[in-house]
Amino acid sequence: MDYLFIKNMHIGMAYLSITLFIFRSVLSVSGSSLLQHKLLKILQHIIDTLLLIFAILLTIIIQQYPFVNGWLTAKLIALFAYIIVGTIAIKRGKTAVIRFWASIFAIAIFAYIYGATKAHHALSWLAIM
Ligand code: HEM
Repeated sequence: MDYLFIKNMHIGMAYLSITLFIFRSVLSVSGSSLLQHKLLKILQHIIDTLLLIFAILLTIIIQQYPFVNGWLTAKLIALFAYIIVGTIAIKRGKTAVIRFWASIFAIAIFAYIYGATKAHHALSWLAIM
């Protein structure tokens, strides 16, 4: 497995993750019972686990690590925030309004992570503009 393959898999999993998340959050906000489908839950876990495995491999290849390099610390913390806010959007939010805003917030965190990667900087998109 070479660097480009691992990087493309990581990016691919990131796109799959956010696409599936948006789909599930639409189901969550609209109160659809399809949300409870096991396949959707399992798929999200598999995708997010692979995303993280490829992320770890990438850190080893480029020899930059969270808690050593700021932009990777930012990515890791933001990934946890994405997961926590994501669970509010999908199940923990008591009302549809809370789940809606949690969904928007989770998508914004995802955009932040993407920018922090592109910029290699915790300021994310602000560092590129
Ligand atoms: C939702 C979470 C994540 C998203 C959306 C994401 C997105 C991306 C993208 C788009 C790239 C390719 C950048 C480019 O080609 O310019 C990338 C690369 C990378 N990501 Fe992630 N990532 C996420 C999580 C993580 C985590 C948690 C880590 C590790 C703590 C990580 C470590 C890396 C590394 C080391 C690279 C290679 C950067 C380079 O070669 O310059 N990623 N990520």
